[in-house]
Amino acid sequence: MKGGEKVEGIIQTIEDNMDLGEISVRHGIHSFKYGTSEFLKEIFELVNPSTDDVFYDLGSGYGIVLFYGAEHYPEAQFKGIEILDERFDMSASLLEENGLKNIELFNEDMFDCDFSDGTIFYIYNPLYAEFYPKLLQRLCEVQKKHPITVIAESRCRVFDETDWLIKYDAISIDVVRQIHFYRSQSA
Ligand SMILES: C[S@@+](CC[C@H](N)C(=O)[O-])C[C@H]1O[C@@H](n2cnc3c(N)ncnc32)[C@H](O)[C@@H]1O
Repeated sequence: MKGGEKVEGIIQTIEDNMDLGEISVRHGIHSFKYGTSEFLKEIFELVNPSTDDVFYDLGSGYGIVLFYGAEHYPEAQFKGIEILDERFDMSASLLEENGLKNIELFNEDMFDCDFSDGTIFYIYNPLYAEFYPKLLQRLCEVQKKHPITVIAESRCRVFDETDWLIKYDAISIDVVRQIHFYRSQSA
């Protein structure tokens, strides 16, 4: 991304000024942890989004994953859902600056959003453990309509244990952590 270091500095300032207590009063109990992937090239090469794909980042933060994808895979559509206004606002400003036309951003709780048009879902630690069954139920409904791919950059065990998902690839981050890639059974 253009102006990478400056953007990182602004993101750090936003993160430093966030008050978890105030945010929880505003949005309720959610996981507001932030992090972003260092493996975008490898991740995207394994999913290779194309014309008919709608790639969702569920809990899109500052939109870093979407910007990378939309720039490198201009044929595909990219959508991000982020609950926190502070992160969403920054991602919306970055989108305005870079002018990418194949990105849409939503400032909402993912459970209030209809993401049933999605074909690829990127999930990087947006939820506390108890919310994953609900997310998987929603994804299961989507895959009944069309095949989906799921990329899990955290809590892979939850996805490994899901009987309608088949793991087809993985990237090792370190000796314990991996990014897992799944296709729905019908894919
Ligand atoms: C670990 S960050 C990952 C950010 C982004 N996916 C990336 O890789 O750059 C997880 C994000 O999910 C957001 N989040 C948590 N619960 C959410 C919810 N229910 N709906 C939408 N976003 C949520 C958090 O605010 C946070 O920005």
